[in-house]
Amino acid sequence: MGTFYVTTPIYYVNAAPHMGHAYTTIAADVMARHHRQRGDEVFFLTGVDEHGEPVANAADALGMTPQALADQNAERFRSLMPRLNASNDFFIRTTDPEHKAKVQEVLVRIKDNGYVYKDHYEGWYCPRCADFKSEAEIEDGSRCPIHHIELTMEKEENYFFKLSAFQERLEQHYADHPEFVGPRHRANEALSFIKGGLQDVSLSRAKLTWGVTVPWDEDHVFYVWFDALLNYYTALSYAKPGEDLTGTFWPPQQHVIGKDILKFHAVFWPALLMAADLPLPERLYIHGYLLMDGEKMSKSLGNVLDPFVVMDRFGTDALRHYVLRDVTFGQDGSVSTEAFEQRYESELANGFGNLASRSIAMVRKYRDGAVPHVEPELREDFDGLADEVAALIDRAELTPALELVWERVRRLNRYVEETTPWALAKDPANAERLDVVLATLIEGVRVVAVLLAPVLPETVDKLLAALNAPDIAYAGATLTAGAVTQVDVLAPLFPKDLPPAPVAA
Ligand code: MSP
Repeated sequence: MGTFYVTTPIYYVNAAPHMGHAYTTIAADVMARHHRQRGDEVFFLTGVDEHGEPVANAADALGMTPQALADQNAERFRSLMPRLNASNDFFIRTTDPEHKAKVQEVLVRIKDNGYVYKDHYEGWYCPRCADFKSEAEIEDGSRCPIHHIELTMEKEENYFFKLSAFQERLEQHYADHPEFVGPRHRANEALSFIKGGLQDVSLSRAKLTWGVTVPWDEDHVFYVWFDALLNYYTALSYAKPGEDLTGTFWPPQQHVIGKDILKFHAVFWPALLMAADLPLPERLYIHGYLLMDGEKMSKSLGNVLDPFVVMDRFGTDALRHYVLRDVTFGQDGSVSTEAFEQRYESELANGFGNLASRSIAMVRKYRDGAVPHVEPELREDFDGLADEVAALIDRAELTPALELVWERVRRLNRYVEETTPWALAKDPANAERLDVVLATLIEGVRVVAVLLAPVLPETVDKLLAALNAPDIAYAGATLTAGAVTQVDVLAPLFPKDLPPAPVAA
């Protein structure tokens, strides 16, 4: 048992929450819930990134102050979290005064350590990425490779962060910590970026006012990325009123991010921490994009599968299940309503839901709800399972971890077909055999439920309540005789009579 500090990126408030944001949040939440089951002391952080040019521009266009727009939009992300059943321990906003003060404190330390200087900068800039692009990155016609909009040539006097000073130390860190960035090909990508030679980066913007003021030169605000990255550190100092959690939780065990922000997290961020003499995070995990029609879903491209609509129709657990099952976590993959509905029906309703319902129904019918106290079968199918699942989750391999559990759901359904308990029930001479089958089914369902609790928290709550075995501690994820003694009626976990799909506007 130890501590487990896990984070999501903080999301830009300049548009509405979409499936991509839900995706990262769900993945990080699964890790947080899994570690709580293992008895770890967990801190799960998410929140919003409120500064920078896009927010200032959007507010301007709406005739609002940036703060008013940020307040309004931050609320949409804050309320997404309980809808997703995210168990975050804090929701950070980069406009929190405590965050801003801490950002200033850390960056002053970096300046005092000699890693900040003033110079001119000129380059291609994408206002939507809030990032300068190198010549190698830009598309034909000076366009952003992500947003396909025309880039502007910007020149200004800035403070710079001496990223170049960290080239060797970063290379060494990657060599010494092969687990630092996963999956492996992302570590290689980051490392080749580093080995390609690091240029110093802009630390401040002079033309903007919507940001954290540079304390030694109040005509500047910090470049939004440095303000944003530091959220992972600043949050711990004020998340719990009256207590500083930094000593308990720093450094993080796991940052979860999408591949679009690899460079910032795998290069800038460790260098920034080195410059501030702070310990580095243990692991970054870089997941892929959810794609619709082959393009990344994002607010600026407009092709959004609305997570709120999906959750309204199918429930939050169904969304959580779908995104982690249908697309291998760590790779890009297409999502679609058809695939969603198919998985809902085959895996959730017919697979797991039906297994749970019929197991409970048979114990109620043949044994008045009393689970026979006998040794369950299928030991060979369940031995070592919990450890294997935990090992995969530790490597952020969420999809293979889930597959191991779903193999057991399928195994249990096959077991029902093989043992035909309804036939055994016809002859009292088979009573002992029926006892074993029923005990095995209930115990198998319970173990599978404990392992699925991080992904399907609501469903598992209901199911374990019907088994009168609400404990989801990870130690209970092994077959045990007598873990459940009495079962109660269970309403369908994944109903098939769903509300119709809303008509597109
Ligand atoms: N504010 C920055 C992050 C700062 S972290 C210190 C930012 N925000 S964002 O709102 O654009 O969110 C980006 C993140 O949202 C991605 O890294 C990823 O986690 C998630 N996703 C956004 N679109 C996505 C997909 N289409 N697919 C999967 N995840 C995606 O960048």
